[in-house]
Amino acid sequence: MQELTIRGFRILKGFLETSEQVDLVRDLRNVAKAAPMRAPITRWGKPMSVRMTSAGRVGWISDRKGYRYEGEKPDGGAWPKIPKNILNLWRNVTELERAPDCCLINYYGEDARMGLHQDKDEGEFQWPVVSVSLGDDGLFRMGNVEKGGKTESIWLNSGDVVVMGGDARLAYHGVDRIRFGSSKLLPDSGRVNLTLRVVAESVA
Ligand code: SIN
Ligand code: MN
Repeated sequence: MQELTIRGFRILKGFLETSEQVDLVRDLRNVAKAAPMRAPITRWGKPMSVRMTSAGRVGWISDRKGYRYEGEKPDGGAWPKIPKNILNLWRNVTELERAPDCCLINYYGEDARMGLHQDKDEGEFQWPVVSVSLGDDGLFRMGNVEKGGKTESIWLNSGDVVVMGGDARLAYHGVDRIRFGSSKLLPDSGRVNLTLRVVAESVA
């Protein structure tokens, strides 16, 4: 494991062993059985290139009504629970008693990317967002709390963890591209990213 900090983003390279990554993929398959991955659209009706689902008290949703957290899946019913291994990872990384309310799961296929954005739908920003990368490498770009300005990028590999807390909690970030087929973790390739978030009761 190697730890580095770039623009306030704490990056834990090689945090997860291969066997831990395999266990997480198994857990995530169970989540996706209960809450199938969907290709969301933006509020402007444009399809996003990632597919996503959630686990936890609330899940993150995007549709023509906008971005928000919802206590129910799009097809009704509660979101599946956040798997134990993922809650343990959060606790190990953050050393917080407070558990996350949402584990957002993003799947990047060959041409998927995620534009620069802030995570700002949570209503509470004193808690970090913890991101876990699995599968193919992803080129992660880190910017500033204000829009624009210089950015820096780093390739995230399977098993890397990024903590966006403190000054980086509301910083712009995104994924420019993935190296499709660079990892053997997922049989059909692609990249999975989990983000663990605390979400205020007042927003969902
Ligand atoms: C996100 O910002 O929600 C995802 C970041 C990533 O895929 O690394
Ligand atoms: Mn984000």
